[in-house]
Amino acid sequence: MKTVLSGIRPTGNLHLGNYYGALINFLKMQEENNCYFFIADWHSLTTHPDPKMLHVNVKNVLSEYLACGLDPEKATIYIQSDVPEIAELYLLLNMHAYLGELEKTVSFKTKARQNPSNVNAGLLTYPVLMATDILIHNADYVPVGKDQEQHLEMTRNYANRFNHKYGVNFFKQPAAYNFGQELIKIPGLDGSGKMGKSEGNCIYLIDEPKVIEKKVKGALTDNGPEAPNLPKPDYIENLFTILQVVSTPEVVAHYNALWNAGETKWYGSLKKQLSEDIIHATTPIRERINDIKNDEAYLRRVTKVGAEKARESASKTLKGVREIMGFRGE
Ligand code: TRP
Repeated sequence: MKTVLSGIRPTGNLHLGNYYGALINFLKMQEENNCYFFIADWHSLTTHPDPKMLHVNVKNVLSEYLACGLDPEKATIYIQSDVPEIAELYLLLNMHAYLGELEKTVSFKTKARQNPSNVNAGLLTYPVLMATDILIHNADYVPVGKDQEQHLEMTRNYANRFNHKYGVNFFKQPAAYNFGQELIKIPGLDGSGKMGKSEGNCIYLIDEPKVIEKKVKGALTDNGPEAPNLPKPDYIENLFTILQVVSTPEVVAHYNALWNAGETKWYGSLKKQLSEDIIHATTPIRERINDIKNDEAYLRRVTKVGAEKARESASKTLKGVREIMGFRGE
């Protein structure tokens, strides 16, 4: 059984792109592997979030992931700051991370440019904290997006460097978890490409039916195909891509046939169908999110059990590292 680990920053709500692009795969992943899913609340501190919002954000993200089907019986689900062993290993690993390489990290350079008045040491060592998250459970695989690949590469470097320096074979080399063909990119409603929070083109899992209807209605269209069998422009293709994940093959075939026939005046019907099917797909999730958010006792239980399981695994690794680095055992 392989160990797979994924960290989730507590920012914003989950949208259709997160759900169909990643989460659906996590559900399968947790059946077949020893999975760790955690909320990276220490990482979110690098940008100094409002203290009043930190707890709310963590609770929201946790509720949403649980509502989507992450299962605390199958996976270890925890909050990073509940595991103090991570802080200690981070301190120890920092001694093996060099300024030159940290300064060259793309994410650091980008953040430093965007916010020159807050270039703090936590931001600089963000990749060391992320490496700690991964190495503390000796994960075999980490599902990462493009923007996190460099951090995973750095994690492998730190693992290697540590092993080499102390002449041990202690840390594994974590690899990117490859979803292969299964990874679907959900486009935004505005034809601008990927659905993303910063693009402002999202349908959120917590959106009420009325909100979904309004967003879909407002999606960009035109007067219809100018002739039969033309390729679809991006902003029409988008609607079809979303339709494919929420509707039946018959529905998709029906609208494809209209497009290919070069017919016009059916976009209204397409949008109506699309918003109905999105509402159908998201309503049970939205209801579960609201139930879970209101169930403080359940959330407390989940995070307590998660923290216990995570600490058990983390303390084993930490004990090994301490010994290797020369601290006396108990
Ligand atoms: N840096 C990741 C992100 O921005 C979140 C994260 C923190 C993470 N620690 C991790 C992801 C460990 C994978 C493994 O999305």
